Amino acid sequence: MRAEYQDGFVIVIRRFQPLDFQQVMEIEEEAFSEHNPYFYMQFYELNADTFLVAERGGNVLGFAVGLQVSGLGKVFSISVRKGYRGMGIGGMLLESLIRIFHNMGLAGVALEVRDSNYRARLFYEKHGFVRVGLCQNYYSDGENALLMRRVL
Ligand SMILES: CC(C)(COP(=O)(O)OP(=O)(O)OC[C@H]1O[C@@H](n2cnc3c(N)ncnc32)[C@H](O)[C@@H]1OP(=O)(O)O)[C@@H](O)C(=O)NCCC(=O)NCCS
Repeated sequence: MRAEYQDGFVIVIRRFQPLDFQQVMEIEEEAFSEHNPYFYMQFYELNADTFLVAERGGNVLGFAVGLQVSGLGKVFSISVRKGYRGMGIGGMLLESLIRIFHNMGLAGVALEVRDSNYRARLFYEKHGFVRVGLCQNYYSDGENALLMRRVL
């Protein structure tokens, strides 16, 4: 996927490559409190088709990590660099991932999101996800996760 903004700003969505690792870790660290670089290299080794980045002229501005669980696609994490949010980059990453899951013949996409992450919840709702449950004490700090799902 490729998007060209009016000011000539071009964003390309492509598969993650090991050279992106450091930039992905920077974005991950600024967004999430539970930071685990080891997961990401494992995702690359096991789910290279569903590990995507948004790139602009060599700079990684966001990433999305997906995997397959019990016949469903799962969004493990998605994040956009601060200062570049609200420009449609997260939406491009999410829709690209959903298209890949669809092409894999999966029936739906599931995810968990922090109860307090209002922006992300709105973002997912905007992309057709609906709340299907609640998982108590899901995160290590005791916060609940909302379970959301979208049919493909
Ligand atoms: C959630 C996230 C990935 C969305 O990416 P994004 O590039 O800002 O998303 P888009 O620009 O495609 O969509 C913006 C929509 O998301 C919501 N939104 C999320 N963050 C926003 C922000 N900082 N500014 C404006 N809108 C935001 C709004 O509902 C907005 O809808 P609108 O365009 O109708 O106003 C991004 O906010 C982010 O990286 N958050 C931190 C990490 C996180 O919480 N990830 C999700 C849990 S795994």
